[in-house]
Amino acid sequence: MYVSEDPVFRQKEVLFPDYIPDHLPHREKEIKAISSIINTALKNHSQISNIFIYGPPGTGKTASIKFIFRKLEEETNAFTVYINCFRVNTRMGALYTIIFEFFRKVRPTRRIPSRRGVAYDELYDLLVSELKKTKAFPIICFDEIDHLLPRGSEVLYDLSRLKEGAIPALLIMVTNDQFVFMNVDPRIKSSLRPVEEIPYRAYTLEEMREIIRMRVEFALQKGVVDEEAVEYLAEVACEMGGDVRIARETLLRAGELAKKDGKYRITVEHIKNALAESQFAKTKSMVEQLSSKERKIISLIPENGIFYPEFYELYRKVYPSGVRDRMLRYYLERLVRYGLISMERRGVGGSYFIRLNVPKKLILS
Ligand SMILES: Nc1ncnc2c1ncn2[C@@H]1O[C@H](COP(=O)(O)OP(=O)(O)OP(=O)(O)O)[C@@H](O)[C@H]1O
Ligand SMILES: [Mg+2]
Repeated sequence: MYVSEDPVFRQKEVLFPDYIPDHLPHREKEIKAISSIINTALKNHSQISNIFIYGPPGTGKTASIKFIFRKLEEETNAFTVYINCFRVNTRMGALYTIIFEFFRKVRPTRRIPSRRGVAYDELYDLLVSELKKTKAFPIICFDEIDHLLPRGSEVLYDLSRLKEGAIPALLIMVTNDQFVFMNVDPRIKSSLRPVEEIPYRAYTLEEMREIIRMRVEFALQKGVVDEEAVEYLAEVACEMGGDVRIARETLLRAGELAKKDGKYRITVEHIKNALAESQFAKTKSMVEQLSSKERKIISLIPENGIFYPEFYELYRKVYPSGVRDRMLRYYLERLVRYGLISMERRGVGGSYFIRLNVPKKLILS
């Protein structure tokens, strides 16, 4: 293991968003439950249950899946597919991701088929025949599944139908919203059965404290963080919904601040200053995942909001070859769904007024 000479950080990567720790304290029970459903399915193809995971932000849902998938790939012949529906939100996109991962992992010597000009049904048939031939068992995670519904939900139905052809497959669906399937076509819902539900709850203060301590121990040099600073951070992170993402981002920023002032100690003050920004950690990670089109659009929205007709003109002026009215509205509606902006009718004529729900500087940086 590389240990740096940095006076504050011992291993800074431990605080980066995509770092998956070797151990997720206080999620052992959930991880065990999920793993055991998967293992049962792997051993006995007639006992496959899909999995539905829900819970508030930053409670370790994505981290658990990545952790479990890493182990599965190392220890079994299952092949895993992780789909972030925030990025891939159509049935075609989802199906192609599965095909892509299949060829990459199960048939590495074959060329990955192109998706250009191929119809969805054709791609589906290809997947069916390849799965039959290779007897591979796909374990597919749809993370942030709310963004796939309802438009892309057909793919769930199609994948559930695999079992009719005696092809095993297990779907894991992850979301913040326990009731995300409420308005989904009952036909699709029932095709997913049986489904095991695994709720993730927010961490308690004690749990949060321990999780933070663990990260501190790996990420920072010994004795860099004041005990009160850890305590304060744990309290705030709990108040803000038990979100570890906030705690992790705050530690990283606070560490940078402690480096800048040259004292190399993280104090409560540093934590407070860092928190001012890291409370938007989830939003920031969403903004970073936006497509470049979406990002261009959201960046044009002024701090004080703007009426739609005016916004359309502004957009066309800045991007003369950009999307047209209907598509622009479509993208704006998506941004509304992400919670990044809101649109409401205002005034007599009833034009839509567009407002940013997040600080402007978060979008520009
Ligand atoms: N028990 C834990 N131990 C250590 N780190 C954790 C734990 N739970 C979460 N984390 C860390 O907190 C951050 C957020 O976790 P994760 O991305 O899994 O949240 P999530 O439940 O998927 O949230 P969202 O619903 O917003 O997607 C990650 O960096 C993750 O590694
Ligand atoms: Mg997540």
